[in-house]
Amino acid sequence: MSKFKGDILVLGSGVAGLSIAIKSATALPDKKIIVATKANESESNTKYAQGGIAAVWDELDSFQDHIDDTMVAGDHLNNKAVVKMVVEEAPESMRQLIEWGTDFDYNKEGEIDLGMEGGHSANRILHYKDITGFEVEKTLLEQVDKLPNIELLPYHFAIDLITDHHLSPKSAASDSKNIACYGAYILNQKTNQIETYLASSTILATGGIGQVYAATTNPIIATGDGIAMAYRAKAKIVDMEFVQFHPTALYQPGISPSFLISEAVRGFGAYLRNKAGDRFMLKVDERAELAPRDVVARAINKELIVSGDPHVYLDCSHLEMTAFKKHFPNIYEKCDSLGIDIAHQMIPVVPAAHYLMGGIEVDVNGYSSIQNLFACGECSRTGLHGANRLASNSLLEALVFGERIAEEIIQNRSKLDLGVEYKIPEWDEEGTMVPKENVLISHNRKTIQNIMTDLVSIVRSDERLEKALDHLNYLFQDTEKAYEKSKLSPQICELRNLNAIAYLIVHQSMKRKNNKGAFYSLDNVTT
Ligand code: FAD
Ligand code: SIN
Repeated sequence: MSKFKGDILVLGSGVAGLSIAIKSATALPDKKIIVATKANESESNTKYAQGGIAAVWDELDSFQDHIDDTMVAGDHLNNKAVVKMVVEEAPESMRQLIEWGTDFDYNKEGEIDLGMEGGHSANRILHYKDITGFEVEKTLLEQVDKLPNIELLPYHFAIDLITDHHLSPKSAASDSKNIACYGAYILNQKTNQIETYLASSTILATGGIGQVYAATTNPIIATGDGIAMAYRAKAKIVDMEFVQFHPTALYQPGISPSFLISEAVRGFGAYLRNKAGDRFMLKVDERAELAPRDVVARAINKELIVSGDPHVYLDCSHLEMTAFKKHFPNIYEKCDSLGIDIAHQMIPVVPAAHYLMGGIEVDVNGYSSIQNLFACGECSRTGLHGANRLASNSLLEALVFGERIAEEIIQNRSKLDLGVEYKIPEWDEEGTMVPKENVLISHNRKTIQNIMTDLVSIVRSDERLEKALDHLNYLFQDTEKAYEKSKLSPQICELRNLNAIAYLIVHQSMKRKNNKGAFYSLDNVTT
């Protein structure tokens, strides 16, 4: 067993975690920043982002329009002050990315080429082909490499936050305001040892939850670990009922994660059609294919229920193919590799779980309700997105809040007295054993994904939610029993976290009595 001490502990190496690490390491060269991440250093939702990053860049665009578009997409449940702050700080975040080395596409006039996506009233998406996230992640890792005071630890799986509950379980406060975070217990996957990492500031940047559903665009790391850890530590978790389903994931039964056909393809002019060839979105919303995602995903869902078909189509055949291939080389190649010639054939698409609007509640500087614990990126709930995120506002949120969190740390406003360090116990694994087989874990993971897909998806109802909760309660007992007696592995920890996330989504869905944004229950529809 080993104890390590850093000044700043960042959990996760996507855009949120890396941008905070770079900012703080640059400003504080004498401080040690540890970035622990559970897979290889680049694996993250960030790496797969396609469409780009929203920012007011064109002089004909305006902050007010970006604010209004964000509020309309969010069904006005957004925090207006946060929306204004993020939108106004967006151009500066883009300049910072460019300074760090991020390449964006330029047009013939030598200006940044701005794309269009659903819910936006202007072209404002900065992008690099259809692999913007890959480009951003690569740039950030290159910057990290240059900073000797960042220690990046791949294959280090954070299990739980260290809080006052570990110092004195009986006397620890139940109100999160009086709980402090001292770091995290982390499973070193190379040695199989659980190590204790102490830090004056801890940042959860652990990303999304897509893997709680059977069909998702999110890679396998997206199991909601940070939110589950924060929940166990008694942080405030809110808005979990708002899960965004991306309308156009490639239909490929049995393949997970689903390959995304970027919203920017519809921004480029592609049409959605049903099997009969009708452009059904024209009947649903005057913005047609470019309505916000919740509207388009629900419309596709309805088409599928009425027709009984397994998917709808995205038609690109009328688009100029040379420009298309230049803008979307990755999507073009993927379709081509499957024998879909998109100049002549339509792409089969279905909605898939994509993004969580809710998460760990944070204030305007990224503080969670637990002292010295920050959350950033998709695991946090800042108030920017309201009930439904506007396309390409997610990478932006992580960059703007990353900057604010780094600034808080640089200004030393999050200083925590680690005088209690000697009292922090090491992880106790007495009485645990390596499970004889892992089939029970993988079975329960699949069961959770199926429950959520069948009962807690784009359209919900009280009856479906109650049924889901019954199933999840049973799985919770089963998982806890296994967890207590097992020597910990990422698999058992992820299962436990997915169970907690599923419970939070169902429980918070049961409390919402009106349909807003991405949340839609048949029992809230008034006829
Ligand atoms: P992530 O990038 O997911 O990083 C999380 C990190 O935490 C990972 O390194 C992970 O390994 C690590 N981690 C998780 N659990 C643990 C643990 N227990 N211990 C240690 N480490 C852990 N948004 C946009 O704005 N524009 C787009 O064009 C866009 N396209 C997208 C396309 C796809 C296919 C997907 C899936 C998402 C897209 N999004 C887009 C959303 C956006 O990519 C994410 O919301 C954003 O990248 C989240 O960044 P993050 O740093 O919060 O999390
Ligand atoms: C996409 O490219 O469609 C994804 C954009 C996003 O999630 O914001």
